[in-house]
Amino acid sequence: MDFTITKTNFGEKPEFEYPKPLFLEEMGEEGLKKLFSDFYDLVVESDIGNFFPQNEEELEKVKAHNVKFFIEACGGEKHYSKAVGHFDMLKTHKQFSITEKARREWLGCMEEVLRKVNISPEAKQSFWNFLETFSKHTVNVDERQELEDLVVKKG
Ligand code: HEM
Repeated sequence: MDFTITKTNFGEKPEFEYPKPLFLEEMGEEGLKKLFSDFYDLVVESDIGNFFPQNEEELEKVKAHNVKFFIEACGGEKHYSKAVGHFDMLKTHKQFSITEKARREWLGCMEEVLRKVNISPEAKQSFWNFLETFSKHTVNVDERQELEDLVVKKG
């Protein structure tokens, strides 16, 4: 398994491939639900925890809702687009300020839970590759630009 995270070139929207059907076949819907439940439990304790509800009941709702996207992205039932009416992750993430650092924190939590899952390396790698590339689309704050603005202001 290769959990490498490559750098986002801000503004670039790299092409990605959805995970192979093998991943959902091996995990099953229940397996994915468990994976994302464990994932969000880690996320709320992480450096990006402030973005997410700390209230347990609200977090359960986020888990139940968001996993629908992943089931659909993995080739399963179209629960997410039926519920939301679209499948556009850029739109849904615009309201949050997501830096490259936040993306890496998100992926780090995912790596931790994925390592514990007992499926074939081929299936796992294909899911990771999807997330690693797709997550670049969610980055909407240019850290370098922010730093430059800060320097200009100070100067
Ligand atoms: C592969 C990358 C990612 C995918 C596929 C993904 C997927 C999703 C999905 C499906 C939702 C639910 C949207 C809705 O219908 O309301 C969501 C919400 C959210 N995502 Fe992401 N996400 C990704 C990366 C990130 C990253 C890097 C962050 C960094 C902070 C992030 C923060 C959030 C937040 C704060 C919410 C709202 C949670 C809530 O409802 O309170 N996401 N994401």
